[in-house]
Amino acid sequence: MSSETPTTSLENLSREERRFPPSEEFAAGAIATADLYDRAAADREGFWAEQARDLLTWSTDFTQTLDWSKAPFARWFVGGELNVAYNCTDRHVEAGHGDRVALHFEGEPGDTRSYTYAELTAAVKRAANALQDLGISKGDRVAIYLPMIPEAVIAMLACARLGAPHSVVFGGFSAEALHSRIEDAQAKLVITSDGGYRRGKPSALKPAVDAALAKGAPSVKHVLVVKRTGQDVEWDDARDVWWDDALAAAAPEHTAQPMDAEHPLFILYTSGTTGKPKGILHTSGGYLTQCAYTHKNVFDLHRDTDVYWCTADIGWVTGHSYIVYGPLANGATQVIYEGTPDTPHQGRFWEIVQKYGVTILYTAPTAIRTFMKWGEDIPAKFDLSSLRVLGSVGEPINPEAWVWYRRVIGGDRTPVVDTWWQTETGAIMISPLPGVTAAKPGSAQVPLPGISADVLDDEAHSVPDGGGGYLVLTEPWPSMLRGIWGDDERYQETYWSRFPGMYFAGDGAKKDDDGDIWLLGRVDDVMNVSGHRLSTTEIESALVSHPKVAEAAVVGATDDTTGQAPCAFVILRGGAEQGDDIVTELRNHVAQEIGPIAKPRQIMVVAELPKTRSGKIMRRLLRDVAEKREVGDVTTLADTTVMDLIKSGMSTSTES
Ligand code: WT7
Repeated sequence: MSSETPTTSLENLSREERRFPPSEEFAAGAIATADLYDRAAADREGFWAEQARDLLTWSTDFTQTLDWSKAPFARWFVGGELNVAYNCTDRHVEAGHGDRVALHFEGEPGDTRSYTYAELTAAVKRAANALQDLGISKGDRVAIYLPMIPEAVIAMLACARLGAPHSVVFGGFSAEALHSRIEDAQAKLVITSDGGYRRGKPSALKPAVDAALAKGAPSVKHVLVVKRTGQDVEWDDARDVWWDDALAAAAPEHTAQPMDAEHPLFILYTSGTTGKPKGILHTSGGYLTQCAYTHKNVFDLHRDTDVYWCTADIGWVTGHSYIVYGPLANGATQVIYEGTPDTPHQGRFWEIVQKYGVTILYTAPTAIRTFMKWGEDIPAKFDLSSLRVLGSVGEPINPEAWVWYRRVIGGDRTPVVDTWWQTETGAIMISPLPGVTAAKPGSAQVPLPGISADVLDDEAHSVPDGGGGYLVLTEPWPSMLRGIWGDDERYQETYWSRFPGMYFAGDGAKKDDDGDIWLLGRVDDVMNVSGHRLSTTEIESALVSHPKVAEAAVVGATDDTTGQAPCAFVILRGGAEQGDDIVTELRNHVAQEIGPIAKPRQIMVVAELPKTRSGKIMRRLLRDVAEKREVGDVTTLADTTVMDLIKSGMSTSTES
């Protein structure tokens, strides 16, 4: 893994002196209190065992909390059995909460639907039977490629109910990306829809599934299609089935079978440092325990009165853990929204908060910075007084955005929790507790009770307060990934070899003088665009797959709105035309290969790329160029005139 020592350019960050302790009133009513830290520290495994038993319903109790004898392959809650979907649906009905709303769905065009826990349970049972009728049984993989509609949640829970691991693929990914994920997981079924609504228009989804399967995916037997937009779709009678027809034909009753605590629940692909996305594997008991625990304590969930809204898409881990599994295991009432924040107007989020009386809002820094740009007068038109906790996730939140979020959206009254975690960690790891921590804008601050993290230097020494280095997790945790699908070696190498015995997250971090943690961004060739992880190598591979490109280098350059944005440097093959057309053509090509989110902000056609004597591209220098800084130290470059060439070529580059 190529890693660069975290820069100190964020030095000033941790000098932030503003403090926001919870109000006395908030602290008095808070779910999580300071003694949680002591209890977890006194007996970490006992603490997790207690959470697992308190928060979940087990068919068979576990006999051992953690088996770490085959580290880094963990087994949590050994011998325990449970059904994840039962924990998210039926049991709330059995406990007398069938009439409580589970989901308030708000479609982009303004159509709405609500599901009570009784209705959600009934829908999941039917869907589970429908999947079974299509030949799905325990262990089979199911790919889900859907917009943010209730059927996405129902489909995931139906899979969980049968013990058929789902692999949700973000609807913004291309047919190519979908195909490679279907192939890697050997999915037997794909669940999709005709389309979804995006920026005021229907946007097709099924054609991408048809194209993905046309590339060859013999494992797929059926495609289950939800009707959302009513668009025309191509139909393969032998393969395609309408969701409504399948559910109508399915039996209404279904008894959930218990699964082993370590039964695979899902695979979710995320970008790594190589071109091939990693299938992150999560299992049942530990994952659900930590999702429920963090959702309750970090967001201060008062189940009977709160209305929770996480604005993520279920295509990302945030949607898995904090739309589906955490909130539903806790029996919460939540809002799910299909569309974008600016459709049909820039106040849409605040209109939704007002309409449903949202009390807990969980969103990303990139959205907050966009709202700041749009101006305070937009949220000011709505009644946001119901809000009492605000969360942030996906990338470091700059202190100004944090303070704006609290003041303008939170009425200067709500705690803000900056939550650090990853697809791999499954659930939140580092975050303030809203009723306990005196929050510091810009810092995720402290590992949650039960979690152990540290910041290490190059020699694996814990850095003193005030020092910077690499973030590691020093103890196993219940919702940790159990591996990379089909690649145990890559799992060990990626996460457990840089600092033996410890989990290396890939993030740079700093401890301030109080020992609080400040995240500084990735230290590997992974960039973070709008809170979504993209690999530089993956975009480079997409570019060189274009017939006109000889070589490509991609860097993540700082971007005011999206945090980072991909910037590409390409060398064209002899004879290929330069100019604007090629830039547009290449941007579209990347969108087609990966998805629109990966489109480079800027593509510079260059004659050379800066390389070390051993032939490694020096992305650090390219980042300097992309961020319009003085180019740094070039002494290890094989040919030092290359940078002058690139810089002089810059004036002709196209930005779009
Ligand atoms: C990477 C994980 C966690 C769900 C969404 C992203 C960055 C995430 C924070 C935060 C600073 C953060 C890290 C991490 N990140 N949250 N609060 N502060 N950085 O999941 O796609 O797996 O990406 O996102 O760099 O490694 P992901």
